Amino acid sequence: MGIPAVAQAPVPDSPAIEAQALALVAKLTLDQKIELIGGVDSMYTHAMPSIGLPRFKMSDASVGVRTWGPTTAYAGGVALAASWDPKLAREIGEGLGRDARARSVNFLLGPGVNIARSPIAGRNFEYLSEDPYLNATLVVPFIEGVQSQGVIATVKHYALNDEEFNRHNASADVDERTMREMYLPAFEAAVTKGHVDAVMNSYNLVNNVHATQNDFLNLKVLKDEWGFQGVLMSDWDATYDGVAAANNGLDLEMPSPKFMNAGNLIPAIKSGQVKESTIDDKVLRLIRAELRYGFAARPQFDPADSTYSVLDREVALKGSLESITLLKNEGHILPLDPASVKTIAVIGPDAWPAVPGGGGSSQATAFEPVSTLTGIANLLGPSAHVLYDRGLPDLGQVCENTHWMKGVKVETFPSRDFTGTPATERRQNVNDFKPDQWGPADPKPRSVRYTTAFQAGAAGKYLIIGAASGEDTFKVFVDGKKTLDQVHAEGQIPNFTSLDLAAGQTVNIQADYLPYEAGSRFGLGLISEPELVSEQAKHIASIADVVVLAIGFDPDTEGEGHDRTFTLPWGQDALVEAIAAANPHTIVTLTGGGGMDVHRWLDKVPALLHTYYPGQEGGTAVAQVLFGKHDPEGKLPVSFDRIWEDNPSAKWYYGVPGANTVLHTTGEDGKPLDYTIEHLKYGDKLMVGYRYWTTTGKHPLFPFGFGLSYTTFSFSNLQAPATIDSGSTATVSFDVTNTGSVAGADVAELYVSDPSAKTDRPERELKAFEKVLLQPGETTHVTLHLDARSFSYWSESARKWTIDPGKFVVHVGDSSESTPLAADVTLQ
Ligand code: BGC
Repeated sequence: MGIPAVAQAPVPDSPAIEAQALALVAKLTLDQKIELIGGVDSMYTHAMPSIGLPRFKMSDASVGVRTWGPTTAYAGGVALAASWDPKLAREIGEGLGRDARARSVNFLLGPGVNIARSPIAGRNFEYLSEDPYLNATLVVPFIEGVQSQGVIATVKHYALNDEEFNRHNASADVDERTMREMYLPAFEAAVTKGHVDAVMNSYNLVNNVHATQNDFLNLKVLKDEWGFQGVLMSDWDATYDGVAAANNGLDLEMPSPKFMNAGNLIPAIKSGQVKESTIDDKVLRLIRAELRYGFAARPQFDPADSTYSVLDREVALKGSLESITLLKNEGHILPLDPASVKTIAVIGPDAWPAVPGGGGSSQATAFEPVSTLTGIANLLGPSAHVLYDRGLPDLGQVCENTHWMKGVKVETFPSRDFTGTPATERRQNVNDFKPDQWGPADPKPRSVRYTTAFQAGAAGKYLIIGAASGEDTFKVFVDGKKTLDQVHAEGQIPNFTSLDLAAGQTVNIQADYLPYEAGSRFGLGLISEPELVSEQAKHIASIADVVVLAIGFDPDTEGEGHDRTFTLPWGQDALVEAIAAANPHTIVTLTGGGGMDVHRWLDKVPALLHTYYPGQEGGTAVAQVLFGKHDPEGKLPVSFDRIWEDNPSAKWYYGVPGANTVLHTTGEDGKPLDYTIEHLKYGDKLMVGYRYWTTTGKHPLFPFGFGLSYTTFSFSNLQAPATIDSGSTATVSFDVTNTGSVAGADVAELYVSDPSAKTDRPERELKAFEKVLLQPGETTHVTLHLDARSFSYWSESARKWTIDPGKFVVHVGDSSESTPLAADVTLQ
């Protein structure tokens, strides 16, 4: 279980710590102080032996302790939010704290709490939900859990990192009310209720000012208004101006002092641009936090902590069980009866190996992640036949097997813009996208054009797919029309679309590829969709009693540094259609950070289960849910759109063409540097997720808060005060009954509407919830409290939380669109 935390709850103003910190800082020279406010060796604070401070270690983050070597991988982020369980958040926080301690980690670089505004945002899976109240309610126990183990939690990314698109150079342009009501509450709760001891600034700009030098975010709100006492660190290379960062609240530049260094700060201090007391404050914050946790006085690693923790393995399983969300269960095909399933086919790219988490800095290596295939086989034991096929080829096979008419002409130009005399060769296919085939780096600039043609056999859908590497860009033209356009991003995923071709139709193809670095890493394929799906997969599907088809995203298709598609990764739509045609008892499980496009085939499959990224025990949990060993209890923490264009942020997501501005700053080398800033206007304002759907009266495919169960629940006996004074707390209570025949958990969700507000407000907003576990026939009485904030909005004119007295309506039920109970409460 590990040793008890040195500091159970951080004590921000302990006089002893304060006196000790002041005494230590007084011993430091200005140079030493400046050294302390920059990181070292990627993941450490700077040591200062003269005052007895060793360096302290940091590690990512929300789903598992990433640092060096295998670990426990939890159902973190969006999966945790799907559990709607603050107790679980506490347990996962404690587990991460224990795992961190066992790896000598002092600062855990999580949790991430940005709002899931759009399903394509690349890091939603690391964050929580689309709702600020749900995020705020989960982040507090999570932080308390981590910090109870003597490890500092770091809430991130402050603020508005709601997309990965151009994250270093994009400005989230948001009005203050939207920020206060949607995007800041989880950070506010982390600081004011969770007493988090570190906050990480985001890469993106907010209202045209980089987060690391944003006076409004860092000084006015975080430090002055919320009273944050801890350390505000930058994201890794998210500092852009040393003096501006020093003066606007940044305490620690990570991973190294590229900007907040002596070279930049000493002259600024001498000229009065930066006060020495400003630097002292940063150093004090760091030293206070380190003293508060006793870091300098004890080893962070304790042999009583387990590096391989059986306890944490159990927490990981509990998390996946609580988060898996049943979205469709036609004809009650689920739960399956283990006794009657003799042959089961487990198919799909996410069936094996396990996919515990998404990609990027949060990716933790689990000791022995359990895949869906393994989980099902373990549960069924030797009496059942478990058949497996991946169902789809890998990308290299598609590129290799494409039959281009008369081969491909490859022209390699000695320039970056397809000019000059190219070196020309002919090839059978375009398949440089195999990492082990990358040639030695070619220092010459180059651009590469591939020209070929393709003739369709049968009429139907054909998949054209292009893939490059790193930050490369390419465009693919079909009969002269731009069909694929891979723009520059920090990372990339295969880019694809479907073409409808007639029998015998010939199309001319031109692909213009621009490697970001020397070399060539490009693949191009064109293949009939039905031919993509393996014959073996169709065969085993046709002979099985039931099929579990595991599809969705993985670390290669969803992760940090780039956004993902709303469409499923290439080939998966065709796979579902082929397998559902082969066996009507096809149950689809999804992996991914939120909603994705399932509308093409949803009516062809009887059951759909969302697993998010279920952590290392995901396969065991999926099997237990499929076979009714555990009643599904997850509820969607995001609205699940039908198509991406329906999402309220869709038209604002990429910013306004032509609205770019240029930011003049100074580079690391002291020379002037200009950045082009892309402006992302949050024109959707408060209309995020269910706020939009319930206000417009339209419906997503599956609403926020929704999730099926193998039992049924009813809500009754709502009691709410008819009148209360503005600013006081309303106590609301009601009964929840399990009206079905198996034990199960439901989430009682309470939404508040404000029909008499003097300003536009969303039709309803989540303001309280409680998860209840009930035996068949059991009733529980739930009591929830609504404080003043539950009825308030942020008034732009008054610049404060405001209540307009009058009628409010309290709605209770188990999804944002299913609230059978309602009562009026008048605030006077
Ligand atoms: C990520 C952070 C992470 C840091 C350290 C950055 O790229 O944005 O979330 O904590 O790396 O790994």
